[in-house]
Amino acid sequence: MTNPASGSVDVMVVLCDGHRCRALRARTEVGPLGVGGDLFDVLREVVRGSRGAVLVRGQCLGACHRAPLVLLLRNAGPNGGDRRGLLVGPVERPEQVAEVVDLVRQADGRPD
Ligand code: FES
Repeated sequence: MTNPASGSVDVMVVLCDGHRCRALRARTEVGPLGVGGDLFDVLREVVRGSRGAVLVRGQCLGACHRAPLVLLLRNAGPNGGDRRGLLVGPVERPEQVAEVVDLVRQADGRPD
């Protein structure tokens, strides 16, 4: 959800698109959440169903040993001034993909 006062985004999902993450992302098994797609497709659908989260591709996040990696950023303060980040990786197995989906939904304040 966009905060009109600050113009910021409450939840931002950053899919690392650095070369190591991009190379290893093909190994990710998205499981039943994928419906024939890849990790980006799963995250795009979760964000589409959110109240106002955004999904972006980012450059290398500096944690290549955890590739493929997702960074979840959310505003924790009342005016969006306290931004919290969580690195999740590697995201390779269906249960790890499901965990990322749950984290995005929790950060967005939505139930399953
Ligand atoms: S390429 Fe993703 S953390 Fe470096």
